[in-house]
Amino acid sequence: MGHASAGGGQGHPLFVALAPPPPTLYLRRVMTTPLVDPFQRAISYLRVSVTDRCDFRCVYCMSESMTFLPKAELLTLEELDRLCSAFIRLGVEKLRITGGEPLVRKGILTFFDAMSRHLGAGALKELTLTTNGSQLARFAPQLAAAGVKRINVSLDTLDEAKFAEITRWGRLKQVLNGIDAAQKAGLRVKINTVALKGFNEDELFPLAQWCAERDMDLTFIEVMPMGDIGNENRLDQYWSLKDLRASLAERYTLIDLAERTGGPARYVQLRETGQKIGFITPLTHNFCESCNRVRITCTGEIFTCLGQEDRADLRAPLRAHPETDAPLEDAIRAAIAQKPRGHDFDYSRQSLGGQMSRHMSHTGG
Ligand code: GTP
Ligand code: 5AD
Ligand code: SF4
Repeated sequence: MGHASAGGGQGHPLFVALAPPPPTLYLRRVMTTPLVDPFQRAISYLRVSVTDRCDFRCVYCMSESMTFLPKAELLTLEELDRLCSAFIRLGVEKLRITGGEPLVRKGILTFFDAMSRHLGAGALKELTLTTNGSQLARFAPQLAAAGVKRINVSLDTLDEAKFAEITRWGRLKQVLNGIDAAQKAGLRVKINTVALKGFNEDELFPLAQWCAERDMDLTFIEVMPMGDIGNENRLDQYWSLKDLRASLAERYTLIDLAERTGGPARYVQLRETGQKIGFITPLTHNFCESCNRVRITCTGEIFTCLGQEDRADLRAPLRAHPETDAPLEDAIRAAIAQKPRGHDFDYSRQSLGGQMSRHMSHTGG
């Protein structure tokens, strides 16, 4: 064991680190400083929406007639690669692909394959997606081969008729087949269920039991005021997770868990079964103080908060400078330097406080 002494420590790593760096090295260190927002939150989670299209029309998410972007507006798969790689260079460790429905984007598996190189290099810790499950029967094995370990599948009911009603265009069987295929391919599945008053209140226990039987985690989500949803009324849909939790506690003993997945869910374990259940509570318990994420839309806009309008265009610096990522990285840093403290969603006055005009599908949730 050698100490770094004044005379003999020239080659010691500590000594080298303390010496003034040569200018080029200094520049590199500045460029690779992690992304930190004005509230000292490090940004390590990137959610990328690869399409605004979806093969379902969930009533809390879209109106039945949606106008989608012309395909020419979308980032190409190569541009998506460059963009995500820049974020990973800047410290992003968790990459979630979203949509719309990400698996309806043509060629998206090529993109997953390309991203797997960052897993191999150790820079990326998790590559994953949130999906409605409709295309999993086709793509699950390829996703697993690309290094995806865990996926989130949105499913609000196990009743065929109710499923058709809530998704308008979806068919339950197709999703259940997709989940089967995912599990067969070795993917861990977490079910995301939006808690909806008068719709799935009666399915709390059946859903929990179904997930437990299949060894799947389950997360409930409070419905957020995102976008115009036609004739539907958000306040009528809202089922607070405080109430849902109280119902769960009538049958089970809930143990709060400290473990996190890097997302906004907080988990409990049911003592009697060992099952884990997550709660995403933007309305009843704001979790913004620990926010670690930003979102990219399929046209290359960065949204620094799900519940605010703050955004910046990353497509222009990306396209204007094919030879260098420096302007793109500057634009990313500038956007994150403006990240808001959090959302203003609030239903407490029986009105839609903090409502966003854009739909969840625009930024991928
Ligand atoms: P895990 O990695 O499993 O923790 O996933 P996740 O919860 O980060 O991602 P998922 O796509 O499954 O998101 C589930 C729900 O959480 C979606 O309805 C999102 O809109 C919501 N959500 C994710 N991030 C945020 C956030 O930053 N703020 C708010 N208000 N909701 C969020
Ligand atoms: N509020 C809460 N969750 C929503 N999702 C879509 N729209 C809303 C909303 N308004 C959910 C989907 C999916 C996830 C990405 O977002 O069901 O699980
Ligand atoms: Fe982060 Fe905004 Fe979501 Fe809050 S609402 S957790 S700040 S993205």
